[in-house]
Amino acid sequence: MKRETYIPLTWMLPAVVLILFNLDLATSADPPATTTATTTTATATTGTTAVTRAKDPGPRPGMDAGLPLPGLSTTQLYYFNAGKEDFEEVESVADGLGPTMNLDNCAGCHLQPATGGSSPPVNPQVAFAKLNGARNVIPSFITVNGPVREARFVKNADGSPDGGVHSLFTIAGRSDGGATCGVGQPDFATAMANRNVIFRIPTPVFGAGLIEAIPDSVIIANLQSNISTKNSLGIRGRPNIVLPGSTISGQPNANGNDGTLARFGWKAQNKSLVLFSGEAYNVEMGITNELFQTERNENAGCQYATTPNDFTDTDGVDGVTTMNGFEKFSIFMRFLAPPKPSADKPGGAPSIGRGRNLFGAVGCSQCHSPSLRTGNSTVAAMRNQTVNLYSDLVVHDMGPGLADGVTQGQAGPREFRTAPLWGLGQRLFFLHDGRTSDLRTAITAHASGSSRDRTASEANLVVAKFNGLTEPQKQDLFNFLRSL
Ligand code: HEC
Ligand code: HEC
Repeated sequence: MKRETYIPLTWMLPAVVLILFNLDLATSADPPATTTATTTTATATTGTTAVTRAKDPGPRPGMDAGLPLPGLSTTQLYYFNAGKEDFEEVESVADGLGPTMNLDNCAGCHLQPATGGSSPPVNPQVAFAKLNGARNVIPSFITVNGPVREARFVKNADGSPDGGVHSLFTIAGRSDGGATCGVGQPDFATAMANRNVIFRIPTPVFGAGLIEAIPDSVIIANLQSNISTKNSLGIRGRPNIVLPGSTISGQPNANGNDGTLARFGWKAQNKSLVLFSGEAYNVEMGITNELFQTERNENAGCQYATTPNDFTDTDGVDGVTTMNGFEKFSIFMRFLAPPKPSADKPGGAPSIGRGRNLFGAVGCSQCHSPSLRTGNSTVAAMRNQTVNLYSDLVVHDMGPGLADGVTQGQAGPREFRTAPLWGLGQRLFFLHDGRTSDLRTAITAHASGSSRDRTASEANLVVAKFNGLTEPQKQDLFNFLRSL
């Protein structure tokens, strides 16, 4: 990581740096005036105007995630471990993999810093593209050190809305099956040239069962809290009004079938872990199952297994061997504990404490709600728990800068779920498309658009307040975020 500083090199004495830390030049594009300081001695009491630019400390080392929830019973732990094993299992063509897919196991995409997490440092999709003799061309947006990505097309060829996931790869040419399969990859080069493709990176699933166990009434009450502060910041907080097909910001994304609030995925488009698992099994890996029975690509030359590929085994000898895959994945994710924040890393406890206060003072916490409570869950370990997720679980209009043009449920083209920030300290890539690894960039990207043409991001005023912080204050905020 390069260290950014506005201090001329000749002043680079630690003592100077420390004392000058209190001054802010963040809003000035000009380098500091070289007025009073001498070139060699640390006469730092002179009130000069130099300042060190705050810097994202980067991912916190270690692996403070991936454990089961505290308080699970022995049998719950047994199911957790069986689910984890299945979540990590690499599938082959004989298991039903493909014909089109993005990878061959859940954990490959959900891996940082532990199984269940987000995009790892080495993108497994690069090696997977050629695995077992597969003939895939690697799309330009997939790189070894870049994030895992899935691709969605914004529009169909006739201009109607698409929004669906277009699988990156096919099994054609693979030695474990695929010899007779002639299915080609989508034309990503043309889609890129036409700006018709958008990306999504994996969201981590640590603590996902706790998110599932938060009652709708808690989400709505939280949305209605601090209403005058939210109004003054331009953050919309309205109760849920379910209007099918419409996209009203500041509302939770309601599930079409039973009218309750959906909450998983970048647009809060999915209701439950079971639903997400069944869908991911088919969409990401091409494994049909009892929730999604139909192959997404039914090309006759490419079918090497019966459908659904994965199913409830009525000949199973016990619960685990009877259960289908999406149930096992769901149990694993549901019983995964939240990531563990650090009390003093990076930057020390006082800096993290100041950063936490600034997170509230600036208004980040009006969307990134520090905690919500679960209800009277059937699972004792998840019952009436405080969940420190740093999200209100509703969608907000994030302006044209973050817009992806895709509508999912009631979440419109510019709307995204407030990303839960727990575990942020160990994440490598930020925002729905993984466009940055830098906290400052992720924060400033929250701002775009204007109220004049009604495209303003709901975060514009909060980002303006963030920009107004001194650099040392920003450093405290970054340290706090990386402690999560
Ligand atoms: C090719 C990479 C990839 C694979 C393989 C993959 N996922 Fe994901 N996962 C993603 C992406 C990308 C998202 C975000 C999708 C979105 O919101 O559009 C995601 C989101 C999720 C979420 C939502 C979590 C939240 O709070 O938002 C769950 C649950 C999930 N995946 C479960 C699974 C399971 C179970 C499997 C295996 C059957 C799996 N995933 C396989 C990429 C992957
Ligand atoms: C209006 C609501 C809102 C406000 C205010 C807000 N955020 Fe966000 N934040 C979001 C949404 C929505 C996303 C996801 C956006 C996307 O991926 O396109 C997000 C994403 C993030 C991410 C990236 C997380 C990830 O998983 O990639 C960080 C970091 C973040 N916010 C920090 C902050 C900080 C710090 C502040 C205060 C300066 C702030 N946010 C204010 C709604 C908000």
